[in-house]
Amino acid sequence: MWLAFALSTVAVALAAANPHAKRAAIDDCLKAAKVPVDAKNSADWNVDVHTYNQRLLYTPAAIVVPTTVEHIQAAVSCAAKVGVKVNPKSGGHSYASFGLGGENGHLVVQLDRMDQVTLDPVTQIATVQPGARLGHVATLLYKQGKRAFSHGTCPGVGVSGHSLHGGFGFSSHTHGLALDWIAGATVVLANATVVNASETENQDLFWALRGSGSNFGIVASFRFKTFAAPSLVTTFEVNLAWNDASAIVGGWGRLQDWLKADMPEELNMRVLGNGYQTQLQGLYYGNSSTLKTAAQPLLDKLNSTLSNVKEFGWMEAFGNYAYSQEIDITRPYKQGETFYSKSLVTSALPANVLKNVADYWVKKARSNRRSWYIIIDMFGGANSAITKVPANATSFAYRDPERNLFLYEFYDTAFGTYPADGFDFLNGWVKTFTDGLDTTQWGMYINYADPLLNRTEAQNVYYRQNLPRLKQVKKQFDPTEVFYYPQGVEPAKP
Ligand SMILES: Cc1cc2nc3c(=O)[nH]c(=O)nc-3n(C[C@H](O)[C@H](O)[C@H](O)COP(=O)(O)OP(=O)(O)OC[C@H]3O[C@@H](n4cnc5c(N)ncnc54)[C@H](O)[C@@H]3O)c2cc1C
Ligand SMILES: *[C@@H]1O[C@H](CO)[C@@H](O)[C@H](O)[C@H]1NC(C)=O
Ligand SMILES: *[C@@H]1O[C@H](CO)[C@@H](O)[C@H](O)[C@H]1NC(C)=O
Ligand SMILES: *[C@@H]1O[C@H](CO)[C@@H](O)[C@H](O)[C@H]1NC(C)=O
Ligand SMILES: *[C@@H]1O[C@H](CO)[C@@H](O)[C@H](O)[C@H]1NC(C)=O
Ligand SMILES: *[C@@H]1O[C@H](CO)[C@@H](O)[C@H](O)[C@H]1NC(C)=O
Ligand SMILES: *[C@@H]1O[C@H](CO)[C@@H](O)[C@H](O)[C@H]1NC(C)=O
Repeated sequence: MWLAFALSTVAVALAAANPHAKRAAIDDCLKAAKVPVDAKNSADWNVDVHTYNQRLLYTPAAIVVPTTVEHIQAAVSCAAKVGVKVNPKSGGHSYASFGLGGENGHLVVQLDRMDQVTLDPVTQIATVQPGARLGHVATLLYKQGKRAFSHGTCPGVGVSGHSLHGGFGFSSHTHGLALDWIAGATVVLANATVVNASETENQDLFWALRGSGSNFGIVASFRFKTFAAPSLVTTFEVNLAWNDASAIVGGWGRLQDWLKADMPEELNMRVLGNGYQTQLQGLYYGNSSTLKTAAQPLLDKLNSTLSNVKEFGWMEAFGNYAYSQEIDITRPYKQGETFYSKSLVTSALPANVLKNVADYWVKKARSNRRSWYIIIDMFGGANSAITKVPANATSFAYRDPERNLFLYEFYDTAFGTYPADGFDFLNGWVKTFTDGLDTTQWGMYINYADPLLNRTEAQNVYYRQNLPRLKQVKKQFDPTEVFYYPQGVEPAKP
């Protein structure tokens, strides 16, 4: 007994000192626990180690491929015992490759063999396994009962990362974020026990999961509320003649006034700008004639007209903004890009900030030969479903209709190696916003994680006023940081 204890202590101490020993120890533990794993460098390993951001490739200590909750428990138990950090990977779309741990040497729990979606015909609650991708979830909810919940536009994104940290799309001004539709979750905790979290069970955990869910456990099953998918929606575009800085300042100013007070709940819109064009893109919950009435006040302000107006069935509308032939995407998944991206959430922009942002757009962005874009999501305002949710209901930090008016994505893709001087371009643009705003007027969105932020800064800008409570929940559920990644929430100090 004592000898066995002493030997295992020696093994753990050796493992801590030596990554090779750690790898051997984790392999042995997983084997003894009969957990399915990918053999190193096998075909499965090469598929499962894939991450959407090809700029950030990492080598795990091992890859577990669970098909049951018990497999996930055993994997977490082995990781804790050996002292290897463990991270679940759902769709692998983290911009910082946090599904692989955001660095080498983690135990990766690749969830995409668990992708079932089952709609309860009586309660209309969907039970969704954690490795399903959004296109698969949407397809099956529609097939099983013409139901849906709110989420983003890319069919390959994993339901877990997306809905545990936000989840914004062309349904969000009308129906909120993906996380607002989570009714409950079954979670494997750091000590490998399984608990449920909901409005009535483990409320602190449930609060923390919805906004910062990668920090407290591995969700092994979700329960999502659903709404009846409309039989018809209308997509549209508005070309913006934002040809110079003064046109950007004027147009943006009118747009933000309208969003703040007037944009109807049924409208969902974003500005997409790139090297070639700047346009509003939208989806309206209604037909094309009611869209015309709803959008006319804005069109008058912008001196613009609607273009490319198309009525679609629910799933066809998903296809339209997915820019993809295939919606029902399952394993194996191979898409990816080499990119750097940043995010912002801001209030309406004061005139001086708007001027700096517009100058940068015209002088630095439009002269840039690389493949970049900016997306300005119409996020908040008086009629947004997102900002109607009470600020303390979930750990998602951005629920104020005025202070959280816009969500932005800045994205710069490289074909080949990402250039060393590439980062300055987006960092400089974001600085034109943040330099003129105080910290109550801006933050960032971890679903568009920026791996260049240090850990302290990252926690502050992602979680703002919710960070102290998140640290308390972290201390309660994962005090030794079994679920660690470089921008993870730190446990509160004792
Ligand atoms: C092409 C593309 C399009 C996108 N479009 C949108 C969009 O329209 N709207 C939007 O809001 N976002 C969008 N995103 C961002 C996306 O929502 C986030 O990157 C999201 O976190 C990805 O989730 P994932 O499961 O695919 O990623 P992963 O890399 O697998 O996981 C992301 C994080 O969640 C953790 N995690 C995964 N599974 C679990 C689990 N079961 N339990 C606990 N933690 C878990 C991981 O450890 C990691 O920290 C897009 C991203 C890409 C690449
Ligand atoms: C969690 O909830 C699910 C679904 O309601 C139930 O089947 C399961 O037994 C619960 N598990 C625990 C640990 O309470
Ligand atoms: C469009 O929708 C409105 C409101 O639901 C309805 O009154 C009108 O008849 C519809 N128009 C067409 C052409 O279907
Ligand atoms: C409105 O747009 C039209 C066509 O683009 C243009 O000719 C006209 O000058 C614009 N009017 C104002 C007030 O900007
Ligand atoms: C949110 O705040 C309200 C009012 O202060 C309080 O009654 C409620 O319990 C809080 N909810 C949570 C989840 O903390
Ligand atoms: C983290 O980044 C912030 C903002 O750039 C900076 O002020 C701070 O000094 C950095 N902290 C560390 C430990 O590097
Ligand atoms: C596991 O962790 C949870 C949360 O901290 C705790 O409530 C529970 O008692 C722990 N279970 C065991 C068996 O240690």
